[in-house]
Amino acid sequence: MGLKLCKRALTVMVGLCILSTYAFGGEVEVLHWWTSGGEAKSVAVLKDLLEKEGHTWKDFAVAGGGGDAAMTVLKSRAVAGNPPTAAQVKGPQIQLWGDEGVLAKLDDVARAEKWDELLPKVVADVMKYEGSYVAVPVNVHRINWMWANPEVFRKAGAQPPTTWEQFETAAKKIKDAGFIPVAWGGQPWQEATVFEMIVAAVGGPDFYQSALVDADAGALNSPTMVKALEVLKMIKPYTDKGAPGRDWNLATAMVIQGKAAMQFMGDWAKGEFTAAGKMPGAEYVAMPAPGTSGQFLFNVDSFIMFKQKDPGAQEAQKAMARLILQPEFQKVFNVNKGSIPVRLGMPRAPFDDPALRSMNAFVASAASGGLVPSMAHEMAVFPATRGAIVDVVTNYYNSDMSAKDAAANLASEVEAAK
Ligand code: BGC
Repeated sequence: MGLKLCKRALTVMVGLCILSTYAFGGEVEVLHWWTSGGEAKSVAVLKDLLEKEGHTWKDFAVAGGGGDAAMTVLKSRAVAGNPPTAAQVKGPQIQLWGDEGVLAKLDDVARAEKWDELLPKVVADVMKYEGSYVAVPVNVHRINWMWANPEVFRKAGAQPPTTWEQFETAAKKIKDAGFIPVAWGGQPWQEATVFEMIVAAVGGPDFYQSALVDADAGALNSPTMVKALEVLKMIKPYTDKGAPGRDWNLATAMVIQGKAAMQFMGDWAKGEFTAAGKMPGAEYVAMPAPGTSGQFLFNVDSFIMFKQKDPGAQEAQKAMARLILQPEFQKVFNVNKGSIPVRLGMPRAPFDDPALRSMNAFVASAASGGLVPSMAHEMAVFPATRGAIVDVVTNYYNSDMSAKDAAANLASEVEAAK
């Protein structure tokens, strides 16, 4: 009798299992560019959470910081009629994908999970196409950071700079002491990342807004822009010969290992320090990039979802969207990634000092007008305009073009791209 009951229970359980796999388990193929040590550790959290709910994660990682390579691959997959289930896509580009009519609506998840209440309105608006959620935000990165090795500064008798004048003084001392002052990744998007920090420092947030968000020709070709371009070029003698083509995380490693004194990079760099077990304050110092202390150049990662026919894939998409904004993922992912949660009202306790300062700066800069979207990281302008700016900046940095000519080129190339 007992054995019979057991057998029946087992049959029911197996049946339920098959049913639940059929009804809920689906595959998501996820395109992203999180391939560095810190990034891979962060994205693995999402994979685990999804797999715990019975879904399968097909990883579609396209290496290349800043995501330019990933976007090229995404376009070719979409043109071939075979887009992935989900893709890391940000800012105004979400609207362009919306125009294509290929995005799945996430409104039922958003309503059930109360996204409108959980997200800052500026972020929620970017995630919507014609009033419907078509993307889910993951985090908030701050761009304008300087990552410094205090030991290298100490050995060189230099102070971490808070202005670009101080930078020059410190960089000379560091170079004389036999260290590389700046760990530089010579890739167009990284050069554009440092450029935009300098535009913010030299011109302030209103100028930044006119030049790099409104893409106003008068601001692009102005004495303030010429000054910013000069500051950018001033850094070059303080970088090393290995800079051209170097990946951002290899530049971060130079600071971690004490070969270089500092790197100017968004706070995904902190993910590398964290993954290497380094403690902020003691083993590395995180400061706003020179001249940008009251400002916050923001960069929000997000995923769009492509329409699916398979019900399992649809369920998996919804689960992914839901999990991304739940507190557990927001905590673990952002602690590892170096960013701060995009979900409002998260406990502050698990976060380290740079993250807490980032949270404070986010709120303070929103109130003071210092909160501006990153141009280099696709938050401010459409890709054609961003491409024109990045090209001019990188051509200028890597040639002997004058700052005046570069500013004039910025204005004309941006007009041509509009
Ligand atoms: C993304 C980050 C990423 C970084 C380096 C940025 O555009 O927003 O999530 O870590 O690029 O690849």
